Amino acid sequence: MAITSFRQQSQQPDEDKPKSSGKKKSGKHRQKEESNRETDVLVAAALPDETNEKEERIRPHRLADYIGQTELKNVLEIAIAAAKERKETLDHLLLYGPPGLGKTTMALILATEMKVNCKITAAPGLERPRDIIGLLVNLKPGDILFIDEIHRLSRMTEELLYPAMEDYRLDITIGKGQTARIRSIPLAKFTLVGATTKVGSLTSPLRDRFGLIQRLRFYEIDELSLIVQRTATLLQAPLTQDGASEIARRARGTPRIANRLLKRVRDYAQVKKIEIINQSVAAEALEVFNVDPMGLDWTDRLVLSVTIEQFNGGPVGLEAIAAATGEDAQTIEDVYEPYLLQIGYLQRTPRGRVATGAARKHLGYD
Ligand code: ADE
Repeated sequence: MAITSFRQQSQQPDEDKPKSSGKKKSGKHRQKEESNRETDVLVAAALPDETNEKEERIRPHRLADYIGQTELKNVLEIAIAAAKERKETLDHLLLYGPPGLGKTTMALILATEMKVNCKITAAPGLERPRDIIGLLVNLKPGDILFIDEIHRLSRMTEELLYPAMEDYRLDITIGKGQTARIRSIPLAKFTLVGATTKVGSLTSPLRDRFGLIQRLRFYEIDELSLIVQRTATLLQAPLTQDGASEIARRARGTPRIANRLLKRVRDYAQVKKIEIINQSVAAEALEVFNVDPMGLDWTDRLVLSVTIEQFNGGPVGLEAIAAATGEDAQTIEDVYEPYLLQIGYLQRTPRGRVATGAARKHLGYD
């Protein structure tokens, strides 16, 4: 299988870089943000060094090697077997869920299983119609086109995709005004795999053209522990089972974060000349990186403590939390909140966010 990536440098998707509000920050917050950027181990966005060949080495390549997401794997196993039996291409697939859970990995696995090529791109790199046209006309029968952040497609690009997905046809308008004509170009039968963290932002005409719509959920600790052990074996890192569990517990249900924490722990052990990474070494190292036993970092704890102390535990609006913490509201909503909601430390109510008793207990409030 060939993997071709069509990411444009200047148009890196949001997911690929930590977000910043663009607002002016106070000295304290700026300082904190800068220190966080150095150790941003808990932001699930892919870092530049995680899109390279080294990263490819630790990605699972077959469905059988992919740990977790059992329901998704079951659905895809059937879809693959059926498509192979009928000698057809796979139906278009929409994968949604928080960043770092393995959407790109799954698209690459599908390509390996179907023995076809996978072209990887992201919606922000497809602003002009010619970007998507160039990709579509070059697809071979059965190929997979992976579009990350598909909710961010421009209207024109999205409209070109409708006949492409439905009838494998590209309708191009030539000329302008009264002399405009539509020319149809046949395309190879391909599979579009769309990925999004915001399924609600997709237009319904686009969503309705996917035959399969699947959610990726946060991983359980035992699943993450197996992922970390698998990665440690590939990296030849001397990790014990309880060391792996310690990393897994602090990885916010996200394999990308788990693997990133493993690498930081491995650095720590190497520099401190520690030969075996067991539970206490992993815990010690992750304390250095400011990752607490529940996987919360400085900003998570700030969001919770501000909600508890300044707003009496809530309900409080997102904008008020953003103003009080100096963090961008969108970043709180997209990066920090999903995991705090998942572990039951924060609740969303019609009147705003509420910090729960579990959050109070974790932070040491009475
Ligand atoms: N590495 C990252 N995600 C993985 C997964 N789900 N299974 C195995 N290895 C992984």
